[in-house]
Amino acid sequence: MAILPNVIVWSLVAFSRAVVGLRGGPPHIPSKSLPPSQDPWYTAPVGFESQAPGAILRIRQSPGNIVNITGNCSKVYNILYRTTDSRYRPTWAVTTLFVPEKPKLSNKALLSYQIPYNTVNVDASPSFSLQTEPSSDIVEALGRGWYVNTPDFEGPLAANVAGIQEGHATLDSLRAALAAGVGLRRDARVALWGYSGGSIASEWALEFQEQYAPELKISGAALGGLVANNTHCIDMVQNGPLAYIAVGAMMGPLIQHPKAFQRLISQLKTSGPYNKTGFLAAFHLNGGEFDYYAGQNIYDYFVNGAAVLHDPLIRQTLLENQFMTYHGVPRSPLFIYKAIADEATAIEDSDYYVERNCMLGANILYERNTVGGHLDEYANGVPRARVWLGSVLDGSYPDKYQTRGCIIKDVAIGAIGATDPSTGGRPGQK
Ligand SMILES: *[C@@H]1O[C@H](CO)[C@@H](O)[C@H](O)[C@H]1NC(C)=O
Ligand SMILES: *[C@@H]1O[C@H](CO)[C@@H](O)[C@H](O)[C@H]1NC(C)=O
Ligand SMILES: *[C@@H]1O[C@H](CO)[C@@H](O)[C@H](O)[C@H]1NC(C)=O
Ligand SMILES: *[C@@H]1O[C@H](CO)[C@@H](O)[C@H](O)[C@H]1NC(C)=O
Repeated sequence: MAILPNVIVWSLVAFSRAVVGLRGGPPHIPSKSLPPSQDPWYTAPVGFESQAPGAILRIRQSPGNIVNITGNCSKVYNILYRTTDSRYRPTWAVTTLFVPEKPKLSNKALLSYQIPYNTVNVDASPSFSLQTEPSSDIVEALGRGWYVNTPDFEGPLAANVAGIQEGHATLDSLRAALAAGVGLRRDARVALWGYSGGSIASEWALEFQEQYAPELKISGAALGGLVANNTHCIDMVQNGPLAYIAVGAMMGPLIQHPKAFQRLISQLKTSGPYNKTGFLAAFHLNGGEFDYYAGQNIYDYFVNGAAVLHDPLIRQTLLENQFMTYHGVPRSPLFIYKAIADEATAIEDSDYYVERNCMLGANILYERNTVGGHLDEYANGVPRARVWLGSVLDGSYPDKYQTRGCIIKDVAIGAIGATDPSTGGRPGQK
């Protein structure tokens, strides 16, 4: 021991303390739940940097009433684990692991459901919001006997749309969940699911999987409302009901780069109706309050309008984090579903995404829906995604779907104005 540098000794001490709850029997459920910004549990133990990516740093049963309000569920754990941020530095994140009431498939099915929380407010992270607002998609998945993993993939700084961070955090949440020893088997099949903001975390995980987590096997991923080109998305949502998306999408990728972030802030107007105070309010808004920005042109907050995105420092940081297909090729089968009339994330960007990956040997079923827009497809895609994910998790995928190459087709499915009852139809809440 004497030859170990202090930092390692400290980290071993901190680590053994952190996992003692698990080793010494089931941890008790804290009754009071605090938002992440106020809960000391949401801090990394000293020396966590020397742990391997995905290492479990702390685990507890999720506080409050979450088991009771989440149907089909027997236990819920929060796991704090080591991951890697968008600048490739050690950081940590928290995931929530739901144990089904009646596990099926021999405890070997894990759905990783990336929630589109679309915010720079860390207190809107799913590990906290799910304690009071259950997700119908999670409940349904638990009802099938699957375990469900829902990472706070934006990490402790709520780096919304920071693709590198989100991909790493999603992969490491899988490592942590599979090692948690709460019933889920280490060799479980894993499927990813994400819509819109959730597609960002899911897809970047697939791009980084081969290089960052080569030991992980991901059996398939369902990606809806794909945000393949975030710059385009920022442009498209201006002046519309989803304008809030642009605020988080401009701030989030810069949060881990203080100089670029300060540059952005320095360009905000200090007076008038669209000023710094209003823009920075995004740090405190919850999913239900996003209408604050509805109908606004977010560029109006900046002294030079849309030119703020052409500042070299800001532009470079955004470029690194917001275009899909530039960091790797998904090796898992993909189901991609998209409304052709999607008003927030362009169909051309998804077409281009599919084309590029198909050229590189990906296996994709791509359904372009002639019905509805971005929020409609959030609901309309659910039944198809569930069927597809079911085949991935029960191993019947090769019998039911083409396992090589790409199928691209137009479909006409669902209704306009359909909403997921658990969300009010708005990605950004559950
Ligand atoms: C959850 O429900 C159980 C059984 O109905 C009850 O005993 C327990 O107190 C509830 N937990 C909370 C935190 O309300
Ligand atoms: C449990 O899952 C089943 C099947 O998915 C679903 O029909 C049911 O509504 C769920 N139970 C609860 C309490 O939501
Ligand atoms: C992203 O979309 C914009 C249009 O808003 C386009 O100019 C740009 O070339 C696209 N970038 C990529 C990498 O597809
Ligand atoms: C900033 O904007 C807010 C919201 O529109 C407004 O209430 C406030 O008066 C503005 N501040 C200044 C200094 O103009």
